[in-house]
Amino acid sequence: MHVIILGSAAGGGVPQWNCGCSNCTDARHDNRGRTQSSVAVSADGERWILLNASPDLRMQLSAHHELWPRGGGRRGSGIAAVILTDGEIDHTLGLLLMRESATRLPVYAPGGVTALLDDAWPLYRVLSAYSGVEPRVLDEAGPLPLTDHAGIALGICCSATAVARRPPRYARAAAQATFDVALRLEDDRTGGTLAYVPTAGAIDAAVQRAASDADLLLFDGTFWSDDELRAVGGGDAPTAREMGHLPVGAPGGSLEQLPRLGAKRTVLVHINNTNPLLCRSSAERAQVEAAGITVGEDAMEFEL
Ligand code: MLT
Ligand code: MN
Ligand code: ZN
Repeated sequence: MHVIILGSAAGGGVPQWNCGCSNCTDARHDNRGRTQSSVAVSADGERWILLNASPDLRMQLSAHHELWPRGGGRRGSGIAAVILTDGEIDHTLGLLLMRESATRLPVYAPGGVTALLDDAWPLYRVLSAYSGVEPRVLDEAGPLPLTDHAGIALGICCSATAVARRPPRYARAAAQATFDVALRLEDDRTGGTLAYVPTAGAIDAAVQRAASDADLLLFDGTFWSDDELRAVGGGDAPTAREMGHLPVGAPGGSLEQLPRLGAKRTVLVHINNTNPLLCRSSAERAQVEAAGITVGEDAMEFEL
């Protein structure tokens, strides 16, 4: 399985348009920003599955030749399907940017997210006037062979497990449902496995199941500490835990637990612009690297 980290930043990206923190300021000056959270995977290098569709999708697709159209003068795309791990704006807004598609795009998502995208955040309804999407519910029944719009197998099976988090902020009152999942993707031919958990409020049984023996774990690196947003957003800003993100460096945080999950390699993704891990010379970065964990970057590639 080919894996490309299209975007390694959390919602807002780096720099975030209205943020004057030191990471955002540095990124403006050295022109080394990060785009918002998304990954592309493919078994054959031709047909790709997007894991989340970010607001920066247009830039991400043009940055990777593997994802360019090969139509020879005609329109077309190697994007065969999308999987959403949650219904947050940073993981879904990119669907609007694929409205020119010639075929209905298959979009796999947890049941709660599929309902939200037809209601509180009505992307599916809006897109029905354009290319339309084909909603496919990702349940927890077991490995699901992923297919393109014509039902042709993509060579990758997907298992989804609900992780502890609340519904998105725009739908706090939504009825109980699954709004966030951890994914485990397995290549039919190579057996290579990717665990993809860009948002996790805890390292619980669901995360353990997804990550155990995985060749690669891409894990929630949103915040280093619980109160990180307060430094830039004031005392009213939510904590990491209130937002459903387990901080990396806090007591009881992910850094203590990730090395025990049994993944062969662990890379942090969905990193917020406030996170001191973004600074290459920070003590926090050194601590993560000493634990054998990698801070993800846009355009990192893996073969599993
Ligand atoms: C999250 O991952 O917690 C959300 O994307 C936050 C947001 O941008 O609203
Ligand atoms: Mn997010
Ligand atoms: Zn910032």
